[in-house]
Amino acid sequence: MTPPRVTVTRRLPAMVEARLTEHYDVVLNPHDHPFTAGELRDALEAGDALLCTVTDQITAQVLSTRKLRARIIANFGVGFNHIDLDTANRRGLVVTNTPDVLTDDTADLAIALMLAVARRMGEGERELRRGAWTGWRPTHLLGTRVTGKTLGIVGFGRIGQAVARRAFHGLRMRIVAAGRRPPPEAVATELEVDWLPLDDLLGRADFVSLHAPAAADTHHLIDARRLRLMRSDAFLINTARGNIVDEAALIDALDAGVIAGAGLDVYEHEPKIHSALLRCPRMVLLPHLGSATIESRTAMGMKAVDNLDAFFEGREPADEVGRVRST
Ligand code: DGY
Repeated sequence: MTPPRVTVTRRLPAMVEARLTEHYDVVLNPHDHPFTAGELRDALEAGDALLCTVTDQITAQVLSTRKLRARIIANFGVGFNHIDLDTANRRGLVVTNTPDVLTDDTADLAIALMLAVARRMGEGERELRRGAWTGWRPTHLLGTRVTGKTLGIVGFGRIGQAVARRAFHGLRMRIVAAGRRPPPEAVATELEVDWLPLDDLLGRADFVSLHAPAAADTHHLIDARRLRLMRSDAFLINTARGNIVDEAALIDALDAGVIAGAGLDVYEHEPKIHSALLRCPRMVLLPHLGSATIESRTAMGMKAVDNLDAFFEGREPADEVGRVRST
């Protein structure tokens, strides 16, 4: 029997590509270029499966091809806001993602960003690298203490809880949280979570860390009004998705001293970075590295292949998102 044809849109860790090559008629992307809409459409017409990721905009237009052959989109990543799920489902496509395996690394990075921006690590490193450090002195680059402060978690799912756990147990922080669903009682008790309306959380927290999914109701969730609700000595951390924050409003808020600083791993128009962000000193900016460890990225790839295996063996993929309706 001919193996199913799988198109992979980006380079994947070597072990994952090797497993795919062994079991599938696989089309890899050796040059790792981001696929255009036309290439994505071609892949959906020519293959049985698309293994894609956050850089692929799987829009209604891409999915509208009349010659659709693909039956499954296995996304490499937990967030799937780049896939028009309704249209994919209407066209009979199963969509899967890769939750859990990246939770710890993404939570670690959120904590790293919080520490980096509060303790002015970016500023310090830039000063040292340009040869401008004149030596230790008592008033040099004074930052803000993190230990014992209040951390506001917006979106208290897997990653939000993992961040809270690190902050509560490791940094003795008080946890306030907001989101769609309050945490299970055991988690709320363990972390002594104070569950608040978002606007109240913003006024209370020394650090606000975003962990909500990108969706219609979280687009620009943090806008000019909500930034003004934050304290002027507070910091915003975003490792979730760029469009949860109104980036222009954030720049204005930083310029005007409405908040003290921000640590960002995600942006509204990736990979384009608003030039004004680059000139804000009290910011730490990372290039979407949340899950970027060899361990997470390998596990994400393996999970995507597990989902493909299940689908083509007639089993239910473990990580299906949304519901499949017939065309
Ligand atoms: C995720 O898994 O959503 C990461 O941000 C990579 O897309």
